[in-house]
Amino acid sequence: MCGIVGYIGVPQKISEHQALDVLMEGLRRLEYRGYDSAGVATVADGQIQARKKSGKLANLIAEIEAQPLTPASVGIGHTRWATHGGPTDQNAHPHYGDEGKLAVIHNGIIENFAPLKQKLDAADESFDSQTDTEVAAKLIGQAFQQTGDLTEAMRQAVNELEGAFTLLAVHADQPDRVVAARRNSPLVVGLGEDENFLGSDVSGFIDFTREAVELEQDQIVTITTDDVAIINFDGSPAEGKRFHVDWDAAAAEKDGYDTFMEKEINDQPKAVEDTLLGRTDASGRLILDELRIDAEELKGIAKIIVLACGTAAYAGMVAKYAIEHWTRIPVEVELAHEFRYRDPIIDENTLIVSVSQSGETMDTLMAVRYAKEQGARTLAICNTNGSTIPRESDAVLYTHAGPEIAVASTKAFLAQITAAYLLGLYLAQLRGQMFTGEIQDILADLHKIPGKIQQILDNADQIKDLARAMADSPSVLFLGRHVGYPVAMEGALKLKELAYIHAEGFAAGELKHGPIALIEDGQPVFVVVPSPRGRDSLHGKVVSNIQEVRARGANAITVAEEGDDSVTEFSSTVFFVPETQPLLMPLLATVPLQIFACALASEKGYDVDQPRNLAKSVTVE
Ligand code: F6R
Repeated sequence: MCGIVGYIGVPQKISEHQALDVLMEGLRRLEYRGYDSAGVATVADGQIQARKKSGKLANLIAEIEAQPLTPASVGIGHTRWATHGGPTDQNAHPHYGDEGKLAVIHNGIIENFAPLKQKLDAADESFDSQTDTEVAAKLIGQAFQQTGDLTEAMRQAVNELEGAFTLLAVHADQPDRVVAARRNSPLVVGLGEDENFLGSDVSGFIDFTREAVELEQDQIVTITTDDVAIINFDGSPAEGKRFHVDWDAAAAEKDGYDTFMEKEINDQPKAVEDTLLGRTDASGRLILDELRIDAEELKGIAKIIVLACGTAAYAGMVAKYAIEHWTRIPVEVELAHEFRYRDPIIDENTLIVSVSQSGETMDTLMAVRYAKEQGARTLAICNTNGSTIPRESDAVLYTHAGPEIAVASTKAFLAQITAAYLLGLYLAQLRGQMFTGEIQDILADLHKIPGKIQQILDNADQIKDLARAMADSPSVLFLGRHVGYPVAMEGALKLKELAYIHAEGFAAGELKHGPIALIEDGQPVFVVVPSPRGRDSLHGKVVSNIQEVRARGANAITVAEEGDDSVTEFSSTVFFVPETQPLLMPLLATVPLQIFACALASEKGYDVDQPRNLAKSVTVE
């Protein structure tokens, strides 16, 4: 996700702390968040001076070396993780308003940017980028022209915005301040002597101060050299919460967690929430305009083939259950590296849906290219804006999980499943296969998922205790049915990858066709239990499977819906997850299995962020 820094110091101390140096240091510290372009803006001699460049910070540094900036004591800096608009120089931040006198940077997604842009277009504002940020810059610029005050201009503009955002602004006519606002996106203030700082997190200023102030939702802060003034979006005064940062810089990058894997597991409520953001209109209808594929063509789709590898392929398996159920379009799921070697049947009525976090997995890319050559339409579900697979596909639906740094996938998986649900519901809406009310009920339940994931995260101790107690297990099996089957596969994969333990995931019904021979005294078996409110008999069948393994000495550990007491007597441990629609259950049931694998691997002393032999982006076939 984007990194944000802001700085203001006294001009007399410019030789000690030049804004540009402080900003670049902050951006370097925020590099861990992942980014594809970077930029800075400072105010000097009554003018905004800005430099921005796609690619790594080195490109921005080279640009500044080629075109140096006049020394300044106030400025803002940004690393961009592209969401709206590809990772180009033009889309890099800052963006400008008020005829170039205002510079704005942004982290988040402005949900209503399309209607706002239409209004601004009608008012003859011109745009240089495809970003949602530029809309905010123009709005703040217009409000400044009327008020002459940057804080008030920010306040008026943010009241028109929907979605998630942290915005920072500087204005050439008010060089004594940086103004920032936050809603559903992070922002902290760093307190210095004769200087103050802003950052997406404390690592943005940890080299300069460890005294910080946390803002609440919907607040605006104005920093000057000797003051930090906070107000709410309605203009009423507010107080921030002061705290001392006692993490070292490395821990700060991980939000205080020991590892990126733990951080990313804990980021999952936000990953799901952000993937849902901006995808419905005011009447609650799904709008996926970004798909870039004609609605008529989507209506004519006769078959969908989901192509992916590893964890992304398990997200594809969940997609099959949901999309087939909601749209009645047949869906096949295939490992991308198998697909093109078997002469698959594809035509122009086939929609290929590739799923990839990195957008660079060579197996998936080659399969997409092959399908295109055969005449299929291609749609990418991807987490990395501007990467190769979405660029080469006819359409794209971005997941907004933010950069995933730990090699093994966690938050991208939940975001992929969320995006697949959106796609399924959108196709059902287009083809008139479901009533609007039904779609809205499912969307409402999807919007409740982040809070439910948080509940699981808040009660993770039971799972971690079990993981520590099981650290010496030589083998663990995972069983599930229906959408619980891919969850079981993913639970096993996480354990293999992180803890190097033999683990297998099975469809529970397959057990008696062979794998049951593996069961012996004390064998741990995780069972993902479907909701008792789901398809008739499915729950009962899984409870029977639990009894089958227990009868042969297995130690059954179940993941079941809250209130499903029927499994308690057959389980050595039950992890309860909150209730949701049966098809949405993978977004919850996966989380305890991720926590378990991560805790068990940590107990064994393994590096959970970089497991042996694995690469984050597999760019060879
Ligand atoms: C497992 C994992 C891998 C990836 C797979 C596809 O934890 O991360 O199985 O899911 O290599 O990668 P992407 O999604 O980048 O195409």
